[in-house]
Formats: sequence, structure tokens, C-alpha cells
Amino acid sequence: MELKNRPRRLRTNGIIRNLVRETKLNIEDLVYPLFVVEGENIKKEIPSLPNNYHFSIDKLVEEVKELTKLGIHYIMLFGLPDKKDNIGSSAYSDDGIVQRAIIEVKKEITDIYIITDICMCQYTDHGHCGLLTEDGKIENDTTVEKLSKIAVSHAKAGADMVAPSDMMDGRIAHMRRELDSEGFKDTPIMSYSIKYASSFYGPFRDAAHSTPSFGDRSSYQMDFTNPKESLREAEIDIDEGADIIMVKPALSYLDIIRRVDEKYNIPIAAYNVSGEYAMIKMAIKNGLMDEKVIYESLLSIKRAGADIIITYFAKEIAEKLRGRN
Ligand code: PBG
Repeated sequence: MELKNRPRRLRTNGIIRNLVRETKLNIEDLVYPLFVVEGENIKKEIPSLPNNYHFSIDKLVEEVKELTKLGIHYIMLFGLPDKKDNIGSSAYSDDGIVQRAIIEVKKEITDIYIITDICMCQYTDHGHCGLLTEDGKIENDTTVEKLSKIAVSHAKAGADMVAPSDMMDGRIAHMRRELDSEGFKDTPIMSYSIKYASSFYGPFRDAAHSTPSFGDRSSYQMDFTNPKESLREAEIDIDEGADIIMVKPALSYLDIIRRVDEKYNIPIAAYNVSGEYAMIKMAIKNGLMDEKVIYESLLSIKRAGADIIITYFAKEIAEKLRGRN
């Protein structure tokens, strides 16, 4: 055949394929979520998130050292407190689990960037992300004040960035103001701006002991039928001073990542959530898919427009990525 166009020419071998590769995934794109618990000498695998662990602070420090050797310098910390109450007070206590963890990690390791999740659901006895009124409704404005308190206490302990995941209205503006007035003008906020009410969070709630004791999160998290609303949430948070906006979940929401990325000139993070992780892990474990699917799915998130990917796969993919790019 006399063909002028033969796209296969650029697929002949690995060397040429590398040259024309449009999207690359780097270790620096990845943020690794870690769960810290009270106690000592604990490194216990989380059943719902195989290959991820609950760490006591001492073991967390060891883990972070290992991560930096692998080239992972961005972590997102989630705390599991011993005590919960109806106002989540251990979330903003100076000797809370996350606050102490930050201090200990920073004491020993300098090349680590700690992002902290700001929310109340692990700390409240009812498991909701905010304070409740007498009749069990989530109270937006008083919750926002508490969230800012949590953010400031994390920043004081040495957190490099804060990431509110609660989905209350107006929390970014309030948090920015509070951080600034406490001397943390340079602490960025990564807002979980576009967080859908999703069943893909199931394994996380087991891991973080944060399942709500009644009802669900649909009065604060977004309805997954609404793509336009993602732009409205992004716009509000950018206007309130967010530095990075996040879309969550990632894999079933690639269209949302793309929309937001096309519209706004701000770094976009995507959270490759626990359910997405668990599905792929199970499929690989059962021999249904090759483990190369991990790279393929993370790359699809990048291709959709995410600059930053928060993923439980970060550690296991780090070694593999080294040789690839
Ligand atoms: C806390 C929070 C959740 C996740 C991150 N921060 C759970 C939720 O909103 O129910 C989910 C992360 C995951 O599923 O991996 N609000």
C-alpha cells in the first residue's frame, strides 16, 4: 500500500515511543497518605488497604526515612486519636496525635513535606465531619471555626501545608485569615474543593475509623451527578484563597479533573481514593489484571489534567517509576 500516514512508525520500539510520549508520571507528582495511631512499636497492616499500615509515631518516623530514600518527599497525614468526643477536641489539641507526629518526623527528617488532612470525622464520636446541632444537623459556621483551629495547630507543629477535607462552606477564607493572623502566611492550603459523596471511600473509613454513626455525608459532600457544580466549588475556593484545588475521587471523575483543569490556572490535585486502590489491588491479587494496570490508571489521572496525585500506590510505584522516565 502507498500510505503517507503510518502512525505505527512512531511505535516501532521503546526508544522512539519514549521520545513521543505525551504524558509522563514522576515520583514528584505523588503524595503518599499515611495513618498514625497512638502507642509504640506499631506497624499494623490495614485489612481494607493491603500494603498500607497504621503506624505509631516511632514507626512512622522510620517509614518516612525509607520513603525519602525511595524519592517520595510528599506525605499526607491522617490521625487516629485514642479519644473521641462530640466536638472532636483532640483534633486541635497541641498534643494531638497528628501534632506530635509532625514534630517527631520533622525532628529527624528534613527533606519531607508534610500535608495534613483537616477534618473532624476521625475525632468526633458520631463520625461526621462537623459539629452537630441538637437535632443532629451539621452546623456549618461553628464547624468552620474549629477547622481553622485544627489547621493553625498543625501549622504550629510544623505542617508544611494543610488540606481541609470537610466540605463546609466558607472554610478556606476563614482558614486563610486565621493562618495569616497566627503568622502562617506562607502555609499553603490545598482544598478538597470538589469532593463527591462517594462509595469509593469505604476502605478508608475502615482504616480511619470514621464511618458516620448515623446518616451519610450527602448534606456536605457533592452529588456525583453534578459536573457543573464542580466549577462553582472550584471558583469559590480559588476566590477564598486556596492554593491548590483537589478533585476526589479520581478514576471515576476524570471528566471533572479535565473540566477544572481547562478552566482554572491553579495546580490540580486528584485523590486516587481507597476504593479505587482496593479494586485494583484485588484484581491484581486474583490474577485478573497485570500489575502494570497501576501505572496505567495513575497515568490516566495525570493525562486528564491532574498535576498532583494522592495515592496509596505511591510507595510501590516509586521504585518502578525510577527506571521508566
Ligand atoms: C475525611 C476524609 C475521607 C477521605 C479523605 N479524607 C473520608 C470521607 O470523606 O468519608 C477519603 C479517602 C479515601 O477514601 O481514600 N473527611
